[in-house]
Amino acid sequence: MLSLQSPLDMHLHLREQDMLRTVAPLTAKSFAAAVVMPNLLQPVNSLDKVRAYCSAIKGAISTACEDVVFTPWMTLFFRNYSRAELIAARPEIIGVKLYPAGITTQSEAGVRDFDAIAATVALLEELDIPLLVHGESSGFVMDREAEFLQVYADLIRNFPRLRLVMEHISTAAALEFLDKHEQMAATVTLHHLMLTLDDMAGGLLQPHLFCKPIAKTPRDRDALRRAVLAGHPRLIFGSDSAPHPRHTKECCGCAAGIFSAPVALPMLAQIFDQAGRLEALQAFVRDNGLRFYGITPPDKTVCLQRKPWRVPENYGPVRPFLAGEELQWQLVDAEV
Ligand code: DOR
Ligand code: ZN
Repeated sequence: MLSLQSPLDMHLHLREQDMLRTVAPLTAKSFAAAVVMPNLLQPVNSLDKVRAYCSAIKGAISTACEDVVFTPWMTLFFRNYSRAELIAARPEIIGVKLYPAGITTQSEAGVRDFDAIAATVALLEELDIPLLVHGESSGFVMDREAEFLQVYADLIRNFPRLRLVMEHISTAAALEFLDKHEQMAATVTLHHLMLTLDDMAGGLLQPHLFCKPIAKTPRDRDALRRAVLAGHPRLIFGSDSAPHPRHTKECCGCAAGIFSAPVALPMLAQIFDQAGRLEALQAFVRDNGLRFYGITPPDKTVCLQRKPWRVPENYGPVRPFLAGEELQWQLVDAEV
């Protein structure tokens, strides 16, 4: 038996309406809190929208499971905000999420000109609001994350007190960069600890393994795995669980995103266990995030047992990561 104190998913997509009602309870079963991404069809780019989305999430979860402990930590979609807007929003958000325009799902309203963001970034630094970044350039797809490191370098030089999160890192280059810059942290997904480009495109194309940033080389994957298992103090678990209905994945023009919420904790337990590093899991799924963000999660104990189960083929309209596969650890009391 493994019991985790207040496990956290520090990068999560919950969507809206029926999809929200399908996926949010699955995260609430495993995690005490999660950082919720703002890339809805209409981006979450005002305090009113933050409030409306936060109550929709809470409503979806409490309808499905009455007494569950779960806090959505909200983010604002980056745009040029005024000081008054950020001061008002600060108590109700955990950070501001920046997407380069068009780089991934529903990011068209993102940043087009990185020379035009300085005033808002300066406010984030001054108000000590973390900046969460989808760090990809628009270059060759395998090089995008490495190319974007220059943008981080400029941000760090210009804003040395800004709390900066590199989201879902997928390369050894990003890890090396992280090690040089104490003011940064990085989230790491489950899928980037497991996959390389080969898994997605090396044989028959696997649309359910297509995500942004795409999975990279074995060297990149292994570097991430080594650093996470070694207990790197500024690597934080963020699933980037990103549900899309099957018909938008199994088609021409497949949407980017891997839906990992229901398998995230069991599969992490399996990876850490197989490496003989179960004792390092608590820091990855809670402590490292808390230290960086300086927040307190709700109290919740989540138990897993070593007992095989088979991952369902579908959750509503979505096919989960590892569908049909047998996992070695399962949530205690999980309805599977
Ligand atoms: O694969 C991804 N899916 N990467 C992202 O950055 C966004 C996400 C989504 O919202 O579907
Ligand atoms: Zn994401």
